[in-house]
Amino acid sequence: MTDTTLPPLTLHLAAPRGFCAGVDRAIKIVEMALEKWGAPVYVRHEIVHNRYVVDDLRAKGAVFVEELDEAPDDRPVIFSAHGVAKSVPAEATRRAMIQVDATCPLVTKVHNEAARHSAEGLQMVMIGHAGHPETVGTMGQLPEGEVLLVETEADVATVEVRDPERLAFVTQTTLSVDDTAGIVAALKARFPAIKGPGKEDICYATTNRQEAVKAMAPDCDALLVVGAPNSSNSRRLVEVGAKAGCGYAQLVQRAADIDWRALGGIRSLGVTAGASAPEVLVNEVIDAFRARYDVTVNLVETAQENVEFKVPRILREPA
Ligand code: F3S
Repeated sequence: MTDTTLPPLTLHLAAPRGFCAGVDRAIKIVEMALEKWGAPVYVRHEIVHNRYVVDDLRAKGAVFVEELDEAPDDRPVIFSAHGVAKSVPAEATRRAMIQVDATCPLVTKVHNEAARHSAEGLQMVMIGHAGHPETVGTMGQLPEGEVLLVETEADVATVEVRDPERLAFVTQTTLSVDDTAGIVAALKARFPAIKGPGKEDICYATTNRQEAVKAMAPDCDALLVVGAPNSSNSRRLVEVGAKAGCGYAQLVQRAADIDWRALGGIRSLGVTAGASAPEVLVNEVIDAFRARYDVTVNLVETAQENVEFKVPRILREPA
């Protein structure tokens, strides 16, 4: 029943939003590893960039570490969905550790592209964010200094390459589709011979979540993206929303982060969630609005997803 004493609010809910197939798989991998080997299992880096997910797995017996040397030899170690440099599994092998790779298969595809181009003698350019674990992992597929990082169109103008005729590029999977198109165009203008993926390496989940936000942003007085501050794809959703015409776009980890004063007298709100944010947190945010507004939910569905990835064989085999 609607409460007419509350102000009305149309809540545009993006679809798709939240968990992607790579995040789903990574979480499943940690849970299956705990079942198979018991606690503790070690996870190098946050399995996905979400504190709620990490805390939940920690309570079940996962131990999160930033570097491999913080994990003992005799416990299984899992590599996060973002992927790792080649040196990491090599070190785990040297220490005879049980290792499970939760790298998203779409990130592994980018690793393979980089390795293939490099084997053909091409110098690699990576479009990505400096220091993001995915960028570090992809650049770490090749020897140090072999991959040149560009973050902006301005970087393209100054990057120094070995031979402009022998170049290829890859991208981080969670970038802004529109910004990346500009950087790719700048690369192709400066280095016409550069090879790259047909489109770019931005994954289906990133693309779909940005499309949904673009579709609803012009109708929203405010947009809330449920996600973590270190989640690249979540931060891009905030930027995409603002660029697409929504005057107020904010990242919130959960309902407690909502700045009610800033929202003032809004009549329409967009809600979406980054690929590592669980639906329970989206519902928490919606419930917080229901307590203050007479909410009508309008689903803005721009795509349907049915992607699923298998877990690694080591988890499908008996212990
Ligand atoms: Fe993979 Fe894209 Fe998710 S690269 S982890 S499907 S955001």
